[in-house]
Amino acid sequence: CTHDLWALANFSANALFALLRVGGSGIDIRSKARTVNGPITDASQLPKWNYDGSSTGQAPGEDSEVILYPQAIFKDPFRRGDNLLVMCDCYTPQGVPIPTNKRHNAAKIFNTPNVAAEETWYGIEQEYTLLQKDVNWPLGWPIGGYPGPQGPYYCAAGADKAFGRDIVDAHYKACLYAGINISGINGEVMPGQWEFQVGPSVGIAASDQLWVARYILERITEVAGVVLSLDPKPIPGDWNGAGAHTNYSTKSMREAGGYGVIKTAIEKLGKRHAQHIAAYGEGNERRLTGHHETADINTFKWGVADRGASIRVGRDTEKDGKGYFEDRRPASNMDPYVVTSMIAETTLLL
Ligand SMILES: *[C@@H]1O[C@H](CO)[C@@H](O)[C@H](O)[C@H]1NC(C)=O
Ligand SMILES: *[C@@H]1O[C@H](CO)[C@@H](O)[C@H](O)[C@H]1NC(C)=O
Repeated sequence: CTHDLWALANFSANALFALLRVGGSGIDIRSKARTVNGPITDASQLPKWNYDGSSTGQAPGEDSEVILYPQAIFKDPFRRGDNLLVMCDCYTPQGVPIPTNKRHNAAKIFNTPNVAAEETWYGIEQEYTLLQKDVNWPLGWPIGGYPGPQGPYYCAAGADKAFGRDIVDAHYKACLYAGINISGINGEVMPGQWEFQVGPSVGIAASDQLWVARYILERITEVAGVVLSLDPKPIPGDWNGAGAHTNYSTKSMREAGGYGVIKTAIEKLGKRHAQHIAAYGEGNERRLTGHHETADINTFKWGVADRGASIRVGRDTEKDGKGYFEDRRPASNMDPYVVTSMIAETTLLL
């Protein structure tokens, strides 16, 4: 019986790979499962695997194999037991990272001695919208109509204000089980919109964790028959968009004198504003309008406790003279490998 099989330490590893398609909701994580011999305590003990890249638009039909390199393991909250979720990145058979593999370059940046020595910490706030299947209209909204204006929904409770809490709480629990540093959840300003936070997590682990948390959310919404959208502005008009505010600090910023280091880092970010914006998610121009707690996409502005700034420094950081800052520009559909490594590159390597 199945129980004996697990006792022989045969268990499954669910290989995840992020495709990061342009357009659409910007999220596309595929997975397939295989049985392996355990125990496995580190991704490096797992074999490489492959998939048909011609079915995902990533390889030509005549040479279609894409190779999966296991990079990070998590406990599988769906199969439980000894089963694992494995975050993989993708290579050609010749060992070259394929174009949609953004992890490879990020790992290179995080392994640079200057960056590694600074022990970069990230806290990422992932906002997302739950949509009713088939009609692609937010959960809890009347089909073809609108709910009452924003105001009563943020962090709310009640059948007329909070839509999808069963999904949100199941996701929270599953992420904790998986070993993700999920630090909280809350209802957002737009009804049907929610947020979860990952972090603080170190270096590339923050992105591995965020991708796996997104995957878990996709699996739970699948069971619930609800569609997950990471679109940065799912409903046009006077409704809040969805972002992925990214808190960041280095060792020097967290130590005495850190506020000076923070100000220098922000100055460097300002000089590369256009490059960062270009890498911070598709459709972000629909969200960064200068309204709804955002800065205008073409303007770089920082401030203390300013939610209308591109970069926000917390009151505590100013008062303590050290701490961290928040990059409020990334869109909900950003690739954390790109965003976190680019912040490290701009502030530590340029
Ligand atoms: C980011 O920083 C803000 C304060 O500036 C804090 O309220 C929030 O919890 C932090 N989020 C994460 C994910 O670290
Ligand atoms: C998760 O958080 C713990 C405690 O704050 C920290 O020690 C650990 O490094 C974090 N994990 C990762 C992968 O960053």
